[in-house]
Order: sequence, then structure tokens, then C-alpha cells
Amino acid sequence: MAVQVQGVVARSKGAPVTLETIVVPDPGPGEARVKVLACGVCHTDLHYREGAINDEFPFLLGHEAAGVVESVGPDVTDVAPGDYVILNWRAVCGNCRACLRGRPQYCFSTFNATQKMTLLDGTELSPALGIGAFAEMTLVAAGQCTKVDPAAPPEVAGLLGCGVMAGLGAAINTGNVGRGDTVAVIGCGGVGDAAIAGSLLAGARTIIAVDIDDRKLETAKKFGATHTVNSRTVDAVEAIREATGGFGADVVIEAIGRPETYEQAFYARDLAGTVVLVGVPDPSMRIELPLIEFFGRGGALKSSWYGDCLPSRDFPMLIDLYLQGRLPLGDFVSETIGIGDVEAAFEKMHHGDVLRSVVVM
Ligand code: APR
Ligand code: ZN
Ligand code: ZN
Repeated sequence: MAVQVQGVVARSKGAPVTLETIVVPDPGPGEARVKVLACGVCHTDLHYREGAINDEFPFLLGHEAAGVVESVGPDVTDVAPGDYVILNWRAVCGNCRACLRGRPQYCFSTFNATQKMTLLDGTELSPALGIGAFAEMTLVAAGQCTKVDPAAPPEVAGLLGCGVMAGLGAAINTGNVGRGDTVAVIGCGGVGDAAIAGSLLAGARTIIAVDIDDRKLETAKKFGATHTVNSRTVDAVEAIREATGGFGADVVIEAIGRPETYEQAFYARDLAGTVVLVGVPDPSMRIELPLIEFFGRGGALKSSWYGDCLPSRDFPMLIDLYLQGRLPLGDFVSETIGIGDVEAAFEKMHHGDVLRSVVVM
């Protein structure tokens, strides 16, 4: 039977979110209904509310979540009621060109739930990133659920569903940071700090945190930064070179999404070094790079999408490392809040006051 629960809805462009009663249908073929336990507040939720992603209002926000499978559709065998899961943006299809090339993290021909959740009057909701988890219950494709060790608290586990995975994966998957490497991370919000934690995990020797906010640099040290650079007061490229014996970093991770910081990343890498763009740029942004500098210096310019993660491979592994005390995922949780506090959390995020506010149901 369809259930009615409370959910956080963005009804129209720019308007504050509202708590609404939503209708979550019984799971159909390939679907799972999940009792959400916790869901982090991400910039992307705010972008939906602002109409910056698309115009398919009303949105059911929230997409960084952990919960327990409540029921599954008739043919679903991979997950079962009672399973403790982290939700991911999309199920991997296994059949598209990306999947067949062995890069399932770039699968785009895939499914979210086919049925729609609705408002009480029948208006269909668009779930943020195909999830919609600022709600007591949500409907997703069964393949969007990845089982992890239930010993990890939901407010911590859920973070792997988006921002923290994006940063960790930028370092360990896309940047392929290795033992002894020098790494610079430009932009130390939640994503950049996760890139720092990932670099530490991968065995980096030197980790240089770059930001314009001293508070952020202090926090970056907790995640493993060995050097900090306030690029408002000193030249970031020179400071990174200085901290790496004059060479530049083996891997430079840009976690903001701005042309000037991507340019810094380009010039701050060592010969044959890698630049990883993980911050989301505005579509209008351009940079000008001298080809000869790229040609003569080798290496790679890469972008990281969702941390190039494979949820089935990465989520359980990272949760295990957390439980063993080797990955401080709990330090990303600045505060836990109620489902009615999302708008206030957007405000704190906007002012750079939090790494992550997490709604706990
Ligand atoms: N130079 C250095 N640091 C900067 C600059 C700059 N010019 N501009 C902003 N910053 C710092 C901010 O001080 C902040 O610490 O970048 C950090 C950005 O962090 P958040 O706003 O918390 O964003 P976060 O959640 O970490 O996401 C970063 O990654 O996935 C994407 O969409 C996400 O584009 C966003 C980026
Ligand atoms: Zn696919
Ligand atoms: Zn997100």
C-alpha cells in the first residue's frame, strides 16, 4: 500500500522549501522503498531549489542518505527488507557503452524508480538526483541501494552518497594518489577535506591545503593536511612549489569549480603531474592555457564525476575503513538537524559555517 510521510519540497524557483505530506507508492518491478534514517544537506539541493538544475518543480530534495529497505518490488533479489543501505544517484545498467567499456561509473543509460512519488493532490514530484531523501520514506531503483555494515551510524554513512564520496574518490579513484605522493587540494569545504582524507588514506607524504578562509585551513589539518596556504595572502602556485621542494605537486585537486583556481592547479603540478577538477564549474566559465606548457610538462588534466565511484565497490570498503578508525567520516558531520531545519541549513552552508548539516529522521 502507498504510504504518506513528511518530505521537504521545493515548490517553485527560489521559494523557501516547505514540509509537505507526500505519497510514496508501493515498490514496483526493480524498485525499493527505503525508510530514510539520515540525509546530508548538499549544495546541489540548494541548486535545485534555485532552479539552477532544471525547471521540473516541485522537487523532493535530499540525496545524501542512508536508511533501511522497507519493501522491494516483485523481481528484486539484490536487496531485501531490513537491509541497511547507502543510496546512490543511479543504478548501473551493465549494458550501455560505458558499462561495456568497463567504466560503469560513467553509466548514464540507467534507472531511478519508474513510479513517481506525489503530493496529496496527485502532483508528481521530481526527486533530487533521482533520490529525494529529505523524507521519512523514499522510492528508488533497487540498484540505487548499496548494503553496508549497519554498525556505521546513518548520519555518517549517508555522506558517502554524495559530497564526501566525490572528494575521497577524486583522490583515490580519479587522481590515483599513491604512497609518497605530494598532493595539493585547492578549496577545503566538505569535498576538498574529503580529498585530503582520501590522500592521507592513499599514503600521500605531503598534503597542501589551499583556501581563502583560515577556519577552513584549520579544519583541513584535522583531515590530514601537512601544509596550509591562505591564497588570499600568498600566491598559491608559489606556495605549493615551495612546499614540494620547488617541483609542484604530483596531484593537484581543484574542489571549488572556478577558472582562476583551475589555472592555479594547472601551474602548481609537477612535471607529469595530474590535475583533477572536482568542483562543478558554471557552464559559462572558460580558461586559457598555453598548449606548450601542457605539451612540455606531460601529465594529465582530469575531471572527476561522483568521485568516479562504483558504489558496490567503494561504499562498503569506505564504511569498513571508518569502522576500523582509519577514515574520520564522523568529522564531516558539523551538526544533526530535524527535517524542518533544511532551510536554516542552506543558510549556514551559504555562509561557510558548516561542512555538513545532516537531517536525522
Ligand atoms: N581560492 C581558494 N579557496 C576558495 C576560493 C578561492 N578563490 N573560493 C572559495 N574557496 C573555498 C571556500 O572558502 C570553501 O572552503 O572553497 C571552499 C568551497 O567549499 P564549500 O562551499 O563548502 O563546497 P563543497 O561542498 O566542498 O563543494 C565544492 O565541489 O562537488 C562540488 O558542487 C560542489 O562545486 C562544489 C565543490
Ligand atoms: Zn550502463
Ligand atoms: Zn550532493
